[in-house]
Amino acid sequence: MSGGECKESAPEGTARERVWTNARLATLDPAVRAPYGALEQHALAVRGDKIAAITPMAEFARGITDAEIIDIAGKWITPGLIDCHTHLVWGGSRAREWEMRLNGVSYAEIAREGGGILSTVRATRARSEDELFRDTVPRLQALMAEGVTCVEIKSGYGLTEFDEIKMLRVARRMGKFFPIEVSPTLLAAHAVPPEFAGRADDYVGHIIDEILPTVSAEKLAEAVDAFCDHIAFSPAQCERIFRAAKERDLAIKGHVEQLSNQHGAELLASHGAWSADHLEYLDDTGVQALAKAGTVAVLLPGAFYFLREKQKPPVEKLRAAGVPMAVATDLNPGTSPFASIRFAMNLACVLYGLTPEEALAGATREAAKALGRGKRLGTLSVGKQADFLVWDVEHPAEIVCQLGVNPLTERIFRGTSCNPI
Ligand code: NIG
Ligand code: FE
Repeated sequence: MSGGECKESAPEGTARERVWTNARLATLDPAVRAPYGALEQHALAVRGDKIAAITPMAEFARGITDAEIIDIAGKWITPGLIDCHTHLVWGGSRAREWEMRLNGVSYAEIAREGGGILSTVRATRARSEDELFRDTVPRLQALMAEGVTCVEIKSGYGLTEFDEIKMLRVARRMGKFFPIEVSPTLLAAHAVPPEFAGRADDYVGHIIDEILPTVSAEKLAEAVDAFCDHIAFSPAQCERIFRAAKERDLAIKGHVEQLSNQHGAELLASHGAWSADHLEYLDDTGVQALAKAGTVAVLLPGAFYFLREKQKPPVEKLRAAGVPMAVATDLNPGTSPFASIRFAMNLACVLYGLTPEEALAGATREAAKALGRGKRLGTLSVGKQADFLVWDVEHPAEIVCQLGVNPLTERIFRGTSCNPI
């Protein structure tokens, strides 16, 4: 199994500058007043793991130095793609349930019968940490092959202290073994486990008193998520978890307004959450609350598509209110089994009416904000981490439009060219 090959990088301080020349940059930087923040005929210089300079070719040619030059002859560069909502680590398969759903049984009905999330919980508990690691690698490699350089990974299929920690350790190992940045999230409040059936409040207490302290002490997660819906946890239960997370300096986010409106987005906004995710049933008050708090709306059109939902998130209202909109895969075995951020961007355009530029910003700049990394990742800007992608396309919209072929020619992670697989 390969850990993803990277060019040997020179020790800090001794690195020669590397410059990608004759580039077309889709910077996604709002300071660049052009669609996609585009800069034609530019050079992008990297020193160490940072973007050191962005220069028009005419100026660059005059000041040539001892740099290594990579002439990309008019290809496009974008920031590295960021998948800010995934359930990447799981055991088993739910393809049988999908067949049932196609025959008319609903997601909520399957969940109530002990299927859905709980069937993945059984399969995940039965896998060792090493087995789960092996199960997860092909999914991660698929995302990396499309240009993902930062990925959020949730727990949530263990639902015991032991099994949630096992999942978070697998997430951490992904970031150690592969050239990708991992943002791990504790999602113990994903479903009420069988041991606590009918005692959701007790399980919430168990999360707060047992699971959260260990996860925080071992620094296994940087954020805490909760599924706020009629088939999962109530807003009051989620609030207890969010307060406990904040006491331990963990960020918060939530699966909210996916199947019904529980006012979870308002709750998240009132606690200064990083993001509110799904949002199909978000109402006007929820939109205003997100706008006021600067909480990112994470759109997950893969789950909407796969569940054949009818109710769409209020994209026009979010746009009008200036709420940052991120796009993510929600990669999971039940509602969004696609390891493709490009497919998620495509669905966001076709099903939700985002523009291709909004979709690309949603999987770069806005996704970085949704992971508390807006200052360090997400745009091509001097001083930011040098995570970027070289694409053999005529126009950046092609990255979102044409699926099934991969126009990615180079993936640079922290300043180093890393072959994704
Ligand atoms: O984001 N909504 C809850 N959680 C996941 C589904 C997980 C599953 O069905 O396994 C989601 O859609
Ligand atoms: Fe999810």
